[in-house]
Amino acid sequence: MKILVIMGSPRKGNTYQAAKKIEEFMQSMAKVEFEYLMLKDANLSQCRGCFACFLKGENYCPCKDDAGLIEQKMHSADGVILASPVYGMNVTALMKTFIDRLCYILHRPRFFDKKALLLSTTGAVGLKETLNYLKLIAGIWGFEVSHSVGLITPPGMISGKQEQENNRKLEKAAFEFYNSFQKKRRSPGLKDILIFRGQKASFGELGLSSPADYTYWKEKGWLNPETKYYVDVPVNPVYNAIGWISEQTIRRKMRKEMAELGK
Ligand SMILES: Cc1cc2nc3c(=O)[nH]c(=O)nc-3n(C[C@H](O)[C@H](O)[C@H](O)COP(=O)(O)O)c2cc1C
Repeated sequence: MKILVIMGSPRKGNTYQAAKKIEEFMQSMAKVEFEYLMLKDANLSQCRGCFACFLKGENYCPCKDDAGLIEQKMHSADGVILASPVYGMNVTALMKTFIDRLCYILHRPRFFDKKALLLSTTGAVGLKETLNYLKLIAGIWGFEVSHSVGLITPPGMISGKQEQENNRKLEKAAFEFYNSFQKKRRSPGLKDILIFRGQKASFGELGLSSPADYTYWKEKGWLNPETKYYVDVPVNPVYNAIGWISEQTIRRKMRKEMAELGK
């Protein structure tokens, strides 16, 4: 099993050490290969906001750097750990730059056969915001999020009790992550269905005015009226009905807006 750790800390500090402990715990369960990708060492420029990736496709991005390589590494792994300390109540700029550069995957999701584990450390606060944000992104990218783990690691003065608590959390995270590889993909929740239906309505209605998204969605078969979700998993019929209503509402609203704009 291959795990890629995408490390958003600019140093090999608390978050890196926590990932190393998860590696140790997982190694004790099975043969697992870990690779650490330190975003600080990657050649990753900031998004220029040109929209080329969204509209024409990621190959048209004017930044010629490691973004494509990182995406390839994610495809080559079975699971990805997205790891970031809390900086200013959310992910670090390194992690955010990485996410911005791969934003086209939010429109054209692709990691459905992969699991993700989310990891964050903080001096005191911001774990919930950081982990919820990472969960939203990883989920829309297509990952099945196995587990989220957040640790409090106060600078220079971690108590024995806190350390024990952190170790316990990391052991649980390793266990949950490892176990998720043995299981089939979970059925999507209502929020997942609403995201799928919202995208289906948007990319379906936008059509060739957003050609990269439309073509991708069409080729995947996601625009077919009967397609309920990105992947073939059981969908709760009530969620499906709510999703369908939501999709029709968005479509009507979009058609009205586009008619007003003369499109
Ligand atoms: C620039 C910066 C911003 C930070 N912002 C927060 C914050 O908003 N809330 C908090 O509780 N801790 C904050 N911290 C503390 C870090 O989250 C904490 O020390 C973390 O464990 C560092 O991870 P690392 O050792 O992997 O780099 C911040 C630290 C730095 C350097």
